Amino acid sequence: MHRGKGMKFVGDSRVPVSRKPNIPKDYSEFPGKTEAFWPNFLLKEWMVGAVFLVGYLCLTIAEPSPLERIADPTDTGYIPLPDWYFLFLYQLLKYSYASGPYNVIGAFIVPGIAFGALLLAPFLDSGPERRPARRPIPTGFMLLAIAGIIFLTWESVATHDWKAAEAQGKIVKEVPIDKEAEGYKLMEKNTCLTCHGENLQGGAAAPALTEINLKPEEIAKIAKNGKGNMPAGVFKGTDEELKTLSEFVANIGKDK
Ligand code: HEC
Repeated sequence: MHRGKGMKFVGDSRVPVSRKPNIPKDYSEFPGKTEAFWPNFLLKEWMVGAVFLVGYLCLTIAEPSPLERIADPTDTGYIPLPDWYFLFLYQLLKYSYASGPYNVIGAFIVPGIAFGALLLAPFLDSGPERRPARRPIPTGFMLLAIAGIIFLTWESVATHDWKAAEAQGKIVKEVPIDKEAEGYKLMEKNTCLTCHGENLQGGAAAPALTEINLKPEEIAKIAKNGKGNMPAGVFKGTDEELKTLSEFVANIGKDK
């Protein structure tokens, strides 16, 4: 047996002597042109991997991911944003021809064709040529796909309302709320909680009421006349009830 030439089989009557074994040549037959997978090649791969790993580690330490409040599955007003590598698909679903009644197009058909083509690429593009310039059709489609993904990701970032996203995920201090109090029951009755949340923690539709610094009279005014995006006329009780409610809101989080 010669080094690097593989084993020679002898004595098998089914294999003609002249037939070359269907085994690729050993790397040692191409001196200077190739290298051993183990350990040379793997070592290089691992070194590159280590550099990236340390790089990502430094990035995560330097820029910790921003935490939001604890996820609340009952809060349907919260609009989540996918991670950056899915933003292009997310953006696609915003266009009128790929959303609403055409949701199937944006959610299944377009991504299905794209990923299906990727899966079938070895069969669709079976030519022996390897240089990108000599394979205009596959190269063209690939460049088109990359341009499309970059454009959609860019659009998604540019059109996202980052301020609203930050507000809806804001961490608010949890404040114990007396749900047996007359004021709380009045808030429930007057639909305040549907926007401001069961624990008055706020949500996508309205800010938290746990950290406001308003006098009862000011709160009463807002409850009746609204403010900004809060509609007027939410409160529909008596003046006596309004006083109870306003004092309750004003005293949230304060020692009585
Ligand atoms: C339709 C949703 C909705 C309902 C119902 C609602 N609010 Fe509001 N509320 C809002 C929004 C939105 C704001 C923020 C207004 C702004 O500053 O633009 C707000 C603001 C407030 C503020 C001022 C908060 C601050 O930080 O200045 C108070 C106080 C308040 N609401 C009390 C109430 C009370 C009491 C009720 C029940 C009678 C109620 N809200 C019902 C949506 C609502």
